Amino acid sequence: MKVHHIGYLVKKIEKAEKAFQELGYTVKQAVLLDEFRQVQICFMEKDGYIVELVSPVSKESVVSGLMKKLGNTAYHICYETDHMEEDLEKLLHKNYVLCSERHEAAALGNRQVCFLVHPYLGMIELLET
Ligand code: NI
Repeated sequence: MKVHHIGYLVKKIEKAEKAFQELGYTVKQAVLLDEFRQVQICFMEKDGYIVELVSPVSKESVVSGLMKKLGNTAYHICYETDHMEEDLEKLLHKNYVLCSERHEAAALGNRQVCFLVHPYLGMIELLET
């Protein structure tokens, strides 16, 4: 599995985008709305590192609870895999628990993703190549 991006929870996506630009990041994919998950998402890049900004747009958003609890913060690392099923199976045997079933990620060209939580490591995302 290879690191694909770092997910950042942000309250105000335009303001966060500007702040990342001030640090030298460039916009890789402009803000788009994921209606199903009720989040705005954009991707930014610096020195080969990709950061995903995720912002809830309603109380029904999948990250509303997290935002309340955590505020603005990095909250997951996404790993790209050629073998989603196999790697998922391995992780489930290593203390990870699925916290979001496989679904298509609108902001990632409808590629399959899922989220897992580990008791000592927090949240990770798997992204099918
Ligand atoms: Ni992500």
